[in-house]
Amino acid sequence: MAEKILVVDDDLDTLKLVGMMLQRQGYTIVAAINGTQALSKVPAEKPDLILLDVMMPDIDGFEVCRRIRSDPAFKTTPILMFTAKTQVDDKVQGFEAGADDYLPKPTHPAELLAHVKALLGRSRQASSAAALPAKKAHMVCVIGAKGGLGTSTLAVNIAVTMASRKQDVILLELRPGLGIAGALLGINKPSGLTALMQNNPEPITTAIVEKEIVGHPSGLRSLLSSFEPHDFAMIQQSARIEAIARVLAGMTQNLLIDLGNGLTEISAKLLMASDHVIILVEPMRHTVTMAKALVTDLQTLGLAQSKVDFVLVNRERSSLQMARAKIEEILGQPVIGMITPAPELAYQSAESGVPIVVRDPNAMVSDQIRQVTDRIMSKARS
Ligand SMILES: Nc1ncnc2c1ncn2[C@@H]1O[C@H](COP(=O)(O)OP(=O)(O)OP(=O)(O)O)[C@@H](O)[C@H]1O
Ligand SMILES: [Mg+2]
Repeated sequence: MAEKILVVDDDLDTLKLVGMMLQRQGYTIVAAINGTQALSKVPAEKPDLILLDVMMPDIDGFEVCRRIRSDPAFKTTPILMFTAKTQVDDKVQGFEAGADDYLPKPTHPAELLAHVKALLGRSRQASSAAALPAKKAHMVCVIGAKGGLGTSTLAVNIAVTMASRKQDVILLELRPGLGIAGALLGINKPSGLTALMQNNPEPITTAIVEKEIVGHPSGLRSLLSSFEPHDFAMIQQSARIEAIARVLAGMTQNLLIDLGNGLTEISAKLLMASDHVIILVEPMRHTVTMAKALVTDLQTLGLAQSKVDFVLVNRERSSLQMARAKIEEILGQPVIGMITPAPELAYQSAESGVPIVVRDPNAMVSDQIRQVTDRIMSKARS
């Protein structure tokens, strides 16, 4: 959903100009032409950010800011003061009134946009951190730059490797209706996530989540997705999934989440709250470009670059592929691991329900999976 920005200015030209510029960037704009209007629109519209002019005929921006802040519901809504006055005194007064940022007028649109993005990013990060409290687990999200790259295969094998190293780990397969982890782990008819989602409005508690967790000989515990396509719509129930993730994070030292691909409201939220994000990419230009676009989106949302690692997965034997150095150049950072083609082993493993690392621990691909797992575990310790 587009973020909503309230623009408050008594100058109609500025209002129009700024409003249109931000609208073109995909934000929803609400306008107020004086302080009184601003104060009624804040509770009515609940904006994600407020751009506030200082000099207005009725109530000035400082006073508007103070009154917004006096309502607990808007204590943390980012407020950017936007004014022709450039004296130091005004800035101090603005910050004292509760503003988060201050820009002199006229401002270059690019500068204004950069400030808006940074403020929204910080605010999103703060709210997602606040939304997933009581966290004990080191949370790792695995996401593909596109579909079908082997994201679930990697997530399952990392989870099994961690468990066989006596780590306390839960795998959450967040792929309602598209579940594959059950098949890879030899678990028939997985339905844990579906059961929790369907029992709405029963509150999510540790006890009811515990009942849906399935075990594996490696020691891994999992909450798995069904493979009934109609369950896919459940991904939209963000609040319920968030509650499930929060409970899981309190039940284990390591929570590994298979996010599939693409950004949804819930996956963005979980990514923001995670400690480590693994992005899968394959050696094809288009996929590398998509991986770069994904990481740019995540940065805009407020995710620190230091939390992101790329794994290069190559499922096909071919001499026509992009070189690793070129991929790293486009991504702007080294990949932390490479998974080479193992189509026969991947097939046999899926057919037998025995994960790759268990079925053939000596295979090169098993070694590569263990290396990625090492990196995850060392990040968890740091
Ligand atoms: N290293 C590999 N070499 C060859 N094939 C592989 C490799 N890893 C996974 N595969 C195969 O690639 C296919 C897709 O794997 P998987 O289901 O894990 O992908 P995914 O990215 O999770 O897909 P989806 O987008 O549907 O969630 C499977 O047939 C799997 O066996
Ligand atoms: Mg998958």
